[in-house]
Amino acid sequence: MKTWTVLELIDWSREYLAEKGFGNARLETELLLSHALSLKRIELYLNFERRLKQEELAAYKALLKRRLAGEPVQYVTGTAAFMFAEFEVNPAVLIPRPETEALMEVALGMIGEIAQGPRVALGSTEAGSVDPCENELLVADIGTGSGVIATTVALKMPDAKVLATDSSPAALDVARRNVERAGVADRVRFLEGRSLEPLAAEGVRGRLTAIVSNPPYVPTGEIETLPADVKGYEPREALDGGTDGLDCIRGIVQDGPAFLAPGGALVLEVGDGQAGTVRDLLRESLISVEVFRDYAGRDRIVAGRAGPRREGGGDDGQDHR
Ligand SMILES: C[S@@+](CC[C@H](N)C(=O)[O-])C[C@H]1O[C@@H](n2cnc3c(N)ncnc32)[C@H](O)[C@@H]1O
Repeated sequence: MKTWTVLELIDWSREYLAEKGFGNARLETELLLSHALSLKRIELYLNFERRLKQEELAAYKALLKRRLAGEPVQYVTGTAAFMFAEFEVNPAVLIPRPETEALMEVALGMIGEIAQGPRVALGSTEAGSVDPCENELLVADIGTGSGVIATTVALKMPDAKVLATDSSPAALDVARRNVERAGVADRVRFLEGRSLEPLAAEGVRGRLTAIVSNPPYVPTGEIETLPADVKGYEPREALDGGTDGLDCIRGIVQDGPAFLAPGGALVLEVGDGQAGTVRDLLRESLISVEVFRDYAGRDRIVAGRAGPRREGGGDDGQDHR
């Protein structure tokens, strides 16, 4: 039986995957092979001449077979890269996307600006200057999935505490493991439930520095048009945003602002073509509302800031639900 070197196997697999129409054939080959050999990707390059044992070849073939059947490479290897870290993923959670990295950049920038307080000019004469969050850095991640947003906030903002919610208990299990793996479990609290409901139960109305969310936003009718590896493997609950895709977003836009501290930020990822509608919705309750682009130049992030606390406005930070 032929024995393969690492390099021979990379070359053969790359060609085979490319022939079968897989876009990132070299990258995917390396991800699968490094996973099968328990090596870092870079270590493959130091082991090009190494000959695989039969059991290693069998393990690799099993992974390749799953990929050839259409399973996303991240589910096959059980890991996905997001910003500067690696996260566990499985079919209970969405595979994190580059547009969510762009969301994170906007969100971290805004949280950083708020954290630098104590007083932040909101760039609007009607807003004036407000004491944004009374020294507490409390961030909510609605629909945390694998926990990439919550984990990244906790890693980048050592003073921040994060409340991470999801309606899916299976997703929360994955997210819990990811914050533990990242070493930030002591600052992330997980809450099961829909939209803002778990936050109401926590009594954090009027206290959040920021709400950051990548909610489901694909219109129900478009799910069938998604690529086979997305619609066939990723959780529908993470994708389906109802008839016009805005069900979950509307809930966050409607209920979220009441949970923000004065000057706090609401930062949302939205679907292609939804930014204008979401911007107009946010302008009803927030100030300094802006649309930001993802790395592909598409309007995919909408953010706004809560105004100053209004005298006698009944916003006493207590939860009155
Ligand atoms: C698009 S995924 C985002 C996952 C992760 N935050 C990310 O960016 O990769 C949306 C997540 O929201 C959860 N979800 C769906 N509807 C929800 C709701 N009404 N309330 C809370 N979470 C919800 C899903 O289970 C899923 O984990």
